[in-house]
Amino acid sequence: EVWNPNGKYRVVSTKPMPGTRWINLLIEQDCRVEICTQKKTILSVEDIIALIGDKCDGVIGQLTEDWGETLFSALSRAGGKAFSNMAVGYNNVDVDAANKYGVAVGNTPGVLTETTAELAASLSLTAARRIVEADEFMRAGLYDGWLPNLFVGNLLKGQTVGVIGAGRIGSAYARMMVEGFKMNLIYYDLYQATRLEKHVQLVYCINLLAPHFADTCMFHVPAYGQFLKANGEQPVTWKRASSMEEVLREADVISLHPILDKTTYHLVNKDSLAIMKKEAVLINCSRGPVIDEVALVEHLKQNPMFRVGLDVFEDEPYMKPGLADLKNAVVVPHIASASKWTREGMATLAALNVLGKIKGYPVWSNPNQ
Ligand code: DGY
Repeated sequence: EVWNPNGKYRVVSTKPMPGTRWINLLIEQDCRVEICTQKKTILSVEDIIALIGDKCDGVIGQLTEDWGETLFSALSRAGGKAFSNMAVGYNNVDVDAANKYGVAVGNTPGVLTETTAELAASLSLTAARRIVEADEFMRAGLYDGWLPNLFVGNLLKGQTVGVIGAGRIGSAYARMMVEGFKMNLIYYDLYQATRLEKHVQLVYCINLLAPHFADTCMFHVPAYGQFLKANGEQPVTWKRASSMEEVLREADVISLHPILDKTTYHLVNKDSLAIMKKEAVLINCSRGPVIDEVALVEHLKQNPMFRVGLDVFEDEPYMKPGLADLKNAVVVPHIASASKWTREGMATLAALNVLGKIKGYPVWSNPNQ
């Protein structure tokens, strides 16, 4: 699909993306926009090289694609200066290779914060209250009357929610669970010291795009405690843990929000699962390889009261054997950012990233800075 065929700059999107705002933005700035409409869900490196062709100024790509040395050299040969992932996560992008070939890399933080946190909150409730199991039971025609022991789950109020990775999304999730369900909070962040600084830098870009995108962060939690006190309510407790293990031991619901890199690969493994409460709920809306999925399946089998809500998987689109058969697992297909507003926002931000570099605008969301 081609828009504005006579545009000066050729921008390729490897997938159709929601809305038209991103297309209009590019067209208004003299871009020819080419959208790949191949039926195949995951494009190979060869498919993308063919899309790049001989002349390409910038590419908007997806998290399912492997943006490494081969693609960045192809893009650079075609005169390309910019690549944006339509995602906040960029573990599929080799930023060093991009630097080597002089291609700037963008991602789409901010616009998906609340939507992703809402899915993590939904999964927390769904797993804690056994909603999928109960739904299957109803549909199977098994309900023959109210029973005191039917699908008894966990009450969240007064329990402790543990957040690992307290950036934008982890913080928004914490706020929802603390404000909405009066949970106590314990959190741990691997990048504690540099987090605030990074946050400010990214929000700068988002604020230029639309002031109401400005998101929340963990540093607002104390103010919330004071608000509750002023209103005569029992404030929940919140604390920053000194280790991840402290969160794993103390929390009843644990939600994972780190980025995926060498330090977070299999962050949750056999040993960490062993120290969690037997009736804990574990949520992952970050990246699949943060959990050792084989160890998780084993743990779920051994501990039927332990529950998980997973949006992401170690080898997407596959699930490790046995996971799909377990009643104590709720699984959804990587949809945490899938609200209309957010997906249109991500597409727009990705287009702005590419456009920013091509036209030399100051607005830039570059994970490498
Ligand atoms: C991301 O943005 O990194 C999500 O995984 C998809 O929205």
